[in-house]
Formats: sequence, C-alpha cells, structure tokens
Amino acid sequence: MEFIAKKADIATLSTQCAVVFCKDGKLMASASHLDTEQNGLLTHQLSIKAISPTAGSHLWLTLAPTKSAKHSKALLVQLGESKKKSTDITIEDVRKICQKLASTLNSAKLKDAAVFFDSALPASGDCTLEKLAHTLALEIERASYRFSLKAGTKNTPATLKKVVFVATNSAETKTLRNGANTGSAMGKGINTARELGNLPGNICTPNYLAEQAKQLAAGCKKLTTKALGEKQMERLGMGAFLSVSKGSDQEGKLILLEYKGAAANKAPHVLVGKGVTFDTGGISLKPGANMDEMKFDMCGAASVLGTFKALVELDAKVNVVGIIAAAENMPSGGASKPGDVVTSMSGQTIEILNTDAEGRLVLCDALTYAERYKPKSVVDIATLTGACVVALGNHAAGLYSNTQSVADALLKAGEETHDRAWQMPLWDDYQRQLDSNFADMGNIGGMPGGSITAACFLSRYTKKYPWAHLDIAGVAWHSGAKKGATGRPVSLLVNYLLNN
Ligand code: BES
Ligand code: MN
Ligand code: ZN
Repeated sequence: MEFIAKKADIATLSTQCAVVFCKDGKLMASASHLDTEQNGLLTHQLSIKAISPTAGSHLWLTLAPTKSAKHSKALLVQLGESKKKSTDITIEDVRKICQKLASTLNSAKLKDAAVFFDSALPASGDCTLEKLAHTLALEIERASYRFSLKAGTKNTPATLKKVVFVATNSAETKTLRNGANTGSAMGKGINTARELGNLPGNICTPNYLAEQAKQLAAGCKKLTTKALGEKQMERLGMGAFLSVSKGSDQEGKLILLEYKGAAANKAPHVLVGKGVTFDTGGISLKPGANMDEMKFDMCGAASVLGTFKALVELDAKVNVVGIIAAAENMPSGGASKPGDVVTSMSGQTIEILNTDAEGRLVLCDALTYAERYKPKSVVDIATLTGACVVALGNHAAGLYSNTQSVADALLKAGEETHDRAWQMPLWDDYQRQLDSNFADMGNIGGMPGGSITAACFLSRYTKKYPWAHLDIAGVAWHSGAKKGATGRPVSLLVNYLLNN
C-alpha cells in the first residue's frame, strides 16, 4: 500500500473515491464543497437521516458527472456527536472509526482513494491529527491483508493500492505524512507477523524463519542477520535448546538479527522470540483437539520479525538485536523424555518433567546468549503457557519483569497502541514450585500459577540485565471462525523501541 500526503483540493485531485466527513449533523469543509457541486446531494442525505449518527457509520454516494467532479464515488463518514467539549473525539472513537473505514475501503474494489481530513477534524479531544493519520494508515494496511493457500481463483487479493491523505496546508502535510509513515510501517510489521503465524508448520520451519530474516536484511543496510545451527549451539553448550530441537528432523536455529540505526556505542534493546514452529508437546504429547493451532507457537518469533520489518520501513534511529529460538517440538526416538536432565548454557541443570514445557527450554539458552550484547533491556515474547490464557483471556498479554521501569515502559507502549499487556507478579514465593530432587530446577511448577512459574523459570536466566517477558499465548491468534494470527504485539514492541 502506498500512502501519499499532500496539500490538495477536492475540486482538482482525482481518485476513484473521495472520503469526506460529517460531525454533529454538519458537513466538514470538503464534504460541503462536494455538496455544492452535487446540487445538495449530501445535505439531502443528512436531512433524510440516510447516515446513522453513530460514529464510524458511513454512506456511499455515487457522484453525478459534473465539470469539476474528479471522484466517481464519495464515502461520507460519520464522526458522531461531540460529547463534552473537552473530550470531543477520543482516541478510542478514532480507532473504531478508522477500523470501519479501513475495512469498507478495502472491500470496495477501489484502486485508490483520497481522504479529506479537513483541519477542523481533530481540533479537540485526546486525538491529534498525526495520531488519526497514523491510526487510519495502520488500519488500512491491516485490512488489506489476505491469507489463503486455496487453489485457483478463490484468492481475492485486495485491490486498493494507493491512498492520498489530503492536507489543507503544508504544516498539515507534514503531520499527515509522519502519521501515515509510522502507521503504515506498523501495519506492514503486523502483517508480516500474521503471515508467518498463519503459514503451516510444514512450510514455516526453523529454516524458513531464518530465510525470512535473510530476506528482510537483504533490503536494508542497517540490518544484518545470521543463524546458528545445532553444531554451533552444541559448542556454546546450549543443552536446554538442543533437548527440544533434537526430537525433530528439522534442524533447530538460533536466528540473530542486528539492526544498527543509532550510534555504535549505544547499548541495544534485545528482543527474544519463541519460535517453536510446531508444538506437538513432544513425548508428553498434546491431545489431538485443536493441535493444529500449535503452528502458532512461533508467534513470538513472528512478532520479532514483524518488529524488524517496521524498523526497516521506518529507517528507525535505534539499535535493536533480535534473537529467535526456532525449533520444532516433536516426539521421536531422538526426543527428550520426562526425567531427562540437561545442562543449559548458563550452567544450571534442568530436569525435564514435561516435554511440553519446551518454550522455556529454548528461551533460556537464547536469554543467556543475549548477555553478550550488554543490552539496555531484553524483552522476550512467547506463546508460553495455556495458563496465561486462563488468567488474562484474549485481550492482554501477561507481562513480567525484574525492572519496574522496563515494565512501565512496556505497559505504556501497549496502552498507547491498544496492544495491551497486564503486569503479573514475579515474587520469590513462587520460585519453590520449580524445585527438583535431581537438578537445579524442574521445567514445570505444577498447576497453580502456571504462567507465573514459567516466568520464574526464565527469571533464573536473566539476572544480568533489565528484562521483561511477554506471555502472548492469549493474544497472538484468534481461534474459531476468525482463526488466524493477530500480529500482536508488534505495535507494542515498535512503540516501545521508538520511545526508549
Ligand atoms: N505452546 C504451549 C502454550 C500454549 C498452549 C499456548 C495452548 C496457547 C495455547 C506451551 O509450549 C505449552 O505447552 N505449555 C504447557 C506448559 C505445561 C506443560 C507446564 C501448557 O501451557 O500446558
Ligand atoms: Mn508446549
Ligand atoms: Zn509451546
């Protein structure tokens, strides 16, 4: 999708569809201009209440060919009724309006469209014009995403290719351009994460993820990538990671991405993604029902790649390292068995009591590896526990941290992008649940507080830097009729990196 911000006039710009607004029962400037040109068509529609007063509702108008009519269609969008003067249109309203508008535009078989923001639009409330442009670009990008492996003509790609954000003066042009740039970069990052998440386990293997990282780096001088194979990981002593990957015919990979957009001496933020490309549970085999959804067990990794996609798009001035722990969790003659004891790269030994608690095994070695970057912060992102879904449902990611300032920054980044997380306790009281008779720790902590004990496990490998863990098991994909990856928490992560 191409977004262009420019100063223009509804009478001279030409696209297939002019998007204009009304609020409080009145037409905004460009809508009003169109109305005059179309002999009162829009005011007539308002007077017969053809458009609902609910914010986000809209009305398609076919425009009569006049001398100056440059758009064949118009979409009149309702901004609603002003509430209290001080909080006119809230950011929540704006998000909903943009989501509706984006899906309408994307299903309308248009090639291009122009949005006439009109300077009056964001005059009050907690939403700025830049935030509005950002949100609309992000939602249009998101709504353009299609995924299908169906054969032949059943695929209907989105037709919309170009959207013009129209400003009334040059200061506004800049504002709209900034908003559109960050919004579309985030949207592209989200779609990258969705695509990787949706790809089935037989296509999206650890090696495939490594290839995707390479492709991303090929288009950007600031980004380099390499992948360590199992031999190299053996040399590093990554016994925990290898205890998972050795059960599969697919070779495990530790994928490293380095994005250098700031001064070389600036400590990087490190993102560590769980990339279990399929989680059967291993010898502790999962039940069959819904096991297909365990192709989404690499959504943490996908969110890291999606975040790098956005950084590349934005040419961001930050230093960020990505580490993806990519492996397939399979039962086989080579797989780990319950009771096996392995030695992690940190030197700590682990009794594998359940081979289905594999995420923490691949992550702990990746987290130890992260030490070498002397990071400003390390954030791991993982579809780690079903227990987190029980605790928080499908709206908030579980957040754990050993440094409150990092937790606060992540909470804020999620709040601002409506990609929210909720902080959970990481108290010492829970640590005992990991006690083992045979090793430094077990890899499970029993039923109570399953998401917390998983975080406690990771906390034992992250003592050397400020660290946070996002358990995204509940938010990374939708089940049921809308089954598919969400691209979360790419917006949270991008926002966090740009602001810290
Ligand atoms: N990938 C799963 C977590 C998961 C399960 C996420 C279902 C979303 C939906 C993880 O590897 C896992 O299997 N965790 C176990 C841990 C248990 C064995 C301590 C779980 O949550 O059941
Ligand atoms: Mn598992
Ligand atoms: Zn898993």
